[in-house]
Formats: sequence, C-alpha cells, structure tokens
Amino acid sequence: MTFDVRKVNDEEFDAWSDAIDIGFLTPQNRGDGPRRRRWFDLDRCWGAFDAGKPVGTLRSIEMELTVPGGAFVPLAGISAVTVAPTHRRNGLLSRMLAGALSASKERGEPLAGLYAAEYPIYGRFGFGAATTTANWHLDARAATFARELPGSVELVDAETVCEEGFKLYDRLRALTPGAVSRPRELWERHLGLVPREGGSVPKHDLYALCRDRDGHVVGYMRYKFDEERWTHDRPDNVVEARDLFALTVEYEARLWKYLADHDWVSEVRAPVMRREDELWRELLVNRRVAWADNQADGEWIRVLDAPAALAARRYEVPGRIVLRVVDKDGYADGTFALDGGPDGATCTATGESADVTLPAAVLAAIYLGGFTAGRFAALGMIDEHNAGAVARLSAMFQTAIAPWSPVGY
Ligand SMILES: CC(C)(COP(=O)(O)OP(=O)(O)OC[C@H]1O[C@@H](n2cnc3c(N)ncnc32)[C@H](O)[C@@H]1OP(=O)(O)O)[C@@H](O)C(=O)NCCC(=O)NCCS
Repeated sequence: MTFDVRKVNDEEFDAWSDAIDIGFLTPQNRGDGPRRRRWFDLDRCWGAFDAGKPVGTLRSIEMELTVPGGAFVPLAGISAVTVAPTHRRNGLLSRMLAGALSASKERGEPLAGLYAAEYPIYGRFGFGAATTTANWHLDARAATFARELPGSVELVDAETVCEEGFKLYDRLRALTPGAVSRPRELWERHLGLVPREGGSVPKHDLYALCRDRDGHVVGYMRYKFDEERWTHDRPDNVVEARDLFALTVEYEARLWKYLADHDWVSEVRAPVMRREDELWRELLVNRRVAWADNQADGEWIRVLDAPAALAARRYEVPGRIVLRVVDKDGYADGTFALDGGPDGATCTATGESADVTLPAAVLAAIYLGGFTAGRFAALGMIDEHNAGAVARLSAMFQTAIAPWSPVGY
C-alpha cells in the first residue's frame, strides 16, 4: 500500500477536519471544518491520503515557549495527531511528523512541543516529557488559610474575561517557564465563545477576576458547579476550577479561597493542567486538606536546534559543559560547548571531547529545569565522561521553581 503524506489544501480541509474527529473518537463533531479553518494555518496542516482520502492528520501551531530566564522561544506546537483505525501502524504518523519537524527546522523554530494522548508514542521521535501535571482537590469545609490573603474577587461576563483573562494570561506566561503563547482566537475558542455549528456559549461556566487593592487585574478564573448533590440532607457540592491563574501565589490562594467559601460547597477541584507542586497549599493551616491525584507527564519538548535552544535560556548556576547530543533523526545531533549563567549563555558546535553524552529526548526532558540530569544518569540514560560533569549539568539546568504548562494545545 502506498499513501501520500503532504500538506493539506483548501479543498481537502473539511474532509481532513472530519478525519480528526474520527481519529479522536468524536464522530459527532464532524462538520467543524469551517470553524477550524478560522485558526488553522494551512501551511502547517499535514495529512496522509489514501487515493485522495485523508486517513491521517497532524497540525503544527506557531507558538512561543517561555524558557528559564524568561525568553520567548519559537515552538512548533504539534496537535490534532490522528491516523484512521484502518491505517494505523503503517508509519503514517512517523512520516507526517517528519514532514512537520523538518519544516519547523527550516523555518528556524528551535523547539517543538506537544501533549501526548498516550505515554509510549513520542519518545522514539526525540520528545521528552519536560513538565508534570496533576489534578488538585481542596476540602472546602476545612480550608482555613494561615494569613489574610490580598485581593478582591469580582464576577464578570464572558466578554470581559476574554479581554482581561487574555491579557492576564499573557503576563503570567512571561513569568512561567513552560508556558506557551495563546493567540486571541485560541483564547476565544478555549472559553467556548466560538461554538461549533448548532452549539452555544457554555452557560454553566462562570468567570471571575481577582483585583489588587488598586483595582488592577491580578488573577482570572473560569469555574463551574458539578450536578447538585445533597448528602443526608446537607449540601455536598463540588465546584470545579477549569482555569485558575494569578500573578502571585497569594492571589492564587485568594481564588481557591473564594471557591472554598461558597455555601453548599464541600469540595473544590481543579481537574486540569495544575502543577504537581501547588505552592498556595503551603498557606493553609493544614496542608493535608488539599491533595493531588492523577500526577502525569505534562508538556513534551523536542529540541530541533540545540545551540539556539540552549543559548536562549538562562542558567541559575553558572557553568561550562560540553554535551554530545545523539539524535537519530539528525536535528539536534552534534557536540556543543555550552557556557551559561544567570545573565546569558552561548552555545556552539565544538570539536572538543564531550563531558557527557545524552540522547535528544533526555536533553528535551531536562531543558526546562523540571527534571535533573542526575535522575537520567541514575537510569543509565546519560554517560558521564569526566567526573562531576553530571552534577554540573544538573546544577546548571535545574531551576528553583519547577516549570509549568498551564494550557494545552
Ligand atoms: C497514535 C497514532 C497517531 C499513531 O499513528 P501510526 O500511524 O499508527 O504510527 P506509526 O505507524 O508511525 O508508528 C510509529 C511507531 O510508534 C509506535 N506507536 C504508535 N502509536 C503507538 C501507541 N499509541 N502506543 C505505543 N506505540 C505506538 C508504533 O508501533 C511504531 O513502532 P515501530 O516503529 O517500532 O513499529 C494512532 O495510533 C492514533 O491515531 N491513535 C489515536 C489518537 C491518538 O492517540 N493521537 C495522538 C494524540 S497526541
């Protein structure tokens, strides 16, 4: 069987869009092509075709990733990855991804990123899980905070939140290594303001802003209540924070407190994209009344241009190290001398002998500072050629606060 793998054209777009919904087991969403066409860039949509019919889909989104030190680095966000059930395990994902990653490398994007539906899919392609994620729960009736929390909370409508939440998120991502940019159109889609044909703006979502004492917006939240529940004649309801972002830990705690303070609510849940370590929890009198579950990998990174990616970030501990990066697909392969510290970094190809050898997927996993090199060395995934090199690599790359990817794509 021979299949075509190439970019999608305008006439094929609606059928290609339907193929996404078949691949994701949501055939009821077919017919969404015209809406998707508003924000999908055709030049970055890849398809696999069998006799002209789309049987594979993949999209690469133009984004920026905040790296340690605060720089925004161009990142190709890989999304909408599906292969039809009739065509799986014929190498179609491999071919679509190779097309998209080579195009990104040519465009000068040093990084690609994605969220993996299933863990085993992407390591073979040089991606490494670089952030973690968890769901959080707070016992609303026992949630007492140890100190007064600043800020006031105001309920607002969807249009206000679109404007203010978008601006707030853009400030937050500048402070958050691991966060990606989210263009205005995607923000509107995320809030459900651009519904599918026949759909409507979700009425169950409520929106709130947190303001500081001067009235500036310092936090934003989208939340909803689960189905009303009473237990032994007492109200026993769950409120779910779908988005909960604030510029400081205290304002974040303020938003959790706002939700916990509701009458009738026994539990606050944040079921998506939270950090594994939520710092606001430390502000509770009893930190055990908040707990995490469903800890998992978050954003996966793929380094396409090692010197550009490594020079773009900052290193909290200064140092120099020579890295031999092994990349079977070639993009990041080579030996590089990295000299970096808190104020900047340089990274160039070198003929020097390496201090350490590591695969591209491990470089990706330690790139944002969330996992130490020592961890991978213990697993036999980094070879140390000079004593102390792994410790130096760990110290240089690790960050004081773990990276966080607050929104998916
Ligand atoms: C995941 C998916 C896109 C893979 O497509 P595919 O065309 O079958 O993948 P390929 O044939 O290119 O596979 C390449 C390799 O990855 C492996 N692989 C692919 N998907 C895998 C999975 N879900 N779990 C484990 N291994 C997987 C293949 O076995 C193959 O290994 P091999 O080279 O050792 O034989 C497809 O199975 C799919 O659409 N799944 C449902 C939707 C989904 O999960 N999408 C991913 C969203 S992030």
